[in-house]
This record gives sequence, structure tokens and C-alpha cells, in this order.
Amino acid sequence: MKRITALATAVVLVGSLAACGGKAGTGATGGGLPKVGVTIYKFDDNFMSFVRRAIETSAKDRAELILNDSQNDQSKQNEQVEMMISKGVKALAINLVDPQAAPAIISKAQAANLPVVFFNKEPDAAVLQSYDKTWYVGTASAEAGVIQGNIVADAWKANPNFDRNGDGKLQYVLLKGEPGHPDAEARTKFAVDTIREAGIDVEELELQTGMWDTVKGKELMDAWIAKHGDKIEFVLANNDGMALGAVQSLKANGYFTNDKYLPVVGVDAIPDALDQIKNGLMLGTVLNDAKNQGTAATDLAINAALGKDPLEGTAWKLDENKAVRVPYVAITKDNLAVAEEAYK
Ligand code: GAL
Ligand code: CA
Repeated sequence: MKRITALATAVVLVGSLAACGGKAGTGATGGGLPKVGVTIYKFDDNFMSFVRRAIETSAKDRAELILNDSQNDQSKQNEQVEMMISKGVKALAINLVDPQAAPAIISKAQAANLPVVFFNKEPDAAVLQSYDKTWYVGTASAEAGVIQGNIVADAWKANPNFDRNGDGKLQYVLLKGEPGHPDAEARTKFAVDTIREAGIDVEELELQTGMWDTVKGKELMDAWIAKHGDKIEFVLANNDGMALGAVQSLKANGYFTNDKYLPVVGVDAIPDALDQIKNGLMLGTVLNDAKNQGTAATDLAINAALGKDPLEGTAWKLDENKAVRVPYVAITKDNLAVAEEAYK
């Protein structure tokens, strides 16, 4: 845990260095700031609203942004990309609606000889290799699952009373993100695999998609409590948005009073989830670093817009898939400050 925390701090430091050192300056577009076209898959997504804010902050005085809400509609996003190209953007920074839609965006960009930085929804590796002017900024999706699984396994071993029916097995329900989204698939698989690898027997009572959404998370949890009652021993959520919905449902069903408790874990470490951890209503989460992902996407897009190497003047590193991967960090009540920093 210490090592991971130190690593995250290092990334925060290099991130802010990059923000200073990577200043685009002027001259690229005849004296003005370079125009960069950005899409967010939908503004109405908790975590993405923090990434968007990081992009806006980091682009200040360095680029002229055209920022679009794709409203969870890929055909709308395709039109927005065409519109931005016709307005003369020098680079695109794209948060896909559908991770499979990258080739359609690349062919539009390629026709206009424009660079594209995808972020948050990872295209297939082969698609990223298909065009030399495209890169990805995000995370290593599986890492969040492993870290979440370790939080669960450690807590399970430390709290024998979590095994409510005393059968030695961990009965869980799992709120999954958008099916087909690399983060949702990997978090689900690696969280459960990690718990098993820690030597814990598991039984899945329910697994359904709540589409990253708080309201859907609450509705599913309501239904699961009605169906399974006290048989549920752990709530795993692919993100905090859905975990917060589960907490609302649990509260409404009499949990978190009179010793009635159910551990809930999420991913993202958004401020609302940190509050719940502080209050004891969530056990933990995994920091998905909105600030550094937004900053890295902006740095790469501005450099590419200026015809520079995407990493010039920054401390970001590309892996063999042309991806910058910002590390995840385990967050419990013991290190909330680490997460607060990433959402300032
Ligand atoms: C994930 C994040 C989710 C949601 C999703 C959107 O990385 O954990 O909360 O924002 O991205 O693509
Ligand atoms: Ca049990």
C-alpha cells in the first residue's frame, strides 16, 4: 500500500510539472491558441464530469477547446466530430460512446490528417495500431479489479462476522458497469478472481449492469434485498456511482443502524463516495485519477495539435499500445487524503 501511494504521489507531481512544462505557447495557428475538439460520452456521468473539469483547467491559456456532450449517442458523436473538423480543429480528444466506434472516428480524422487522442473508453489495441496519429489515455482496467478484490479479501479476513450465515463462503452481489466497456469487464473479472485467489470461497447471488448509474444501482439493490434479504454479505460495484445507489437502498432498508451493516465497495473515489467512507457507509473504493487522466489527455492532444511529439515537455509515458496509463490506488478510511487530492 505504501509503495502504491508513493507512486500515485509521483504521478501527481509529474502531472503538474507537465502542465507547466507542456505550455503550448502561441504561433501554432497563426498566433492564436491551437483549436482542440473534445467529446465526452455523456456529461451526465459522475466520474466524467471530473475528467471534463480537469481537461478545462489544464487547457486554460494553452488551447481553444470545443467541448461536446455526446449524450450517450454514438451517431451524435460522429456528427460532432465532423462538425469540429469543419471548424478547423487541429486535434481531437475523444471519449467514445461505444468503445467499438473508434475505427469510424479514426477514418474521419485520417481523411483530414488530424491526430486523435482517445481517453477513458479504450479502443482495441489493433485499432490504435492502425493509425500512427492516434493514442490512448486511461488506466490499466484490470488493476482496479485487483485492488478492489484485495480490499474485499482483507476486510473479509479481518471481520469474521461478515460471514453472516457462517458457511465460510462470501455471498456477494455485483453491480456491473456498461457491458462491453473494458473497465466494466476487467473490474468484474479481476475483482472476483482476486478474492478467490486470496483463498476465499465465493458465491455470486446476483450480477447485473447498473450502467455506471446511481439510480439504476439503487433500483437493482432494492430488488436484490427484496429477493435475498440477509443472505447478501458483500456489495461489489464497478464504480462509486452505483455503489452510492446501493448505499441509498441499504439505508432505506434499515441498514447502517442498530448494528445492521453490509460492506460496500466501489471504484473512482469521487467526493460523495469519500464522504460515505468517512461515515462508515462504504468500506472502500479505488482511486480512478480524474485529474491526471484529464491532464494527460489534454497534454497529448495539444502537443499533437502543434505537430509535436505527443509527450514533448511532459513526463507521461506510453506503453507498447501507445497508451498512457494512470495508476489506480486503494482507498479506505486510512488514506482519504490521497483521493481528495485527485478530485480537487
Ligand atoms: C470508468 C469510471 C465510471 C464511468 C466510466 C465511463 O472509468 O469508473 O464511473 O465514468 O469510466 O466510461
Ligand atoms: Ca456466507
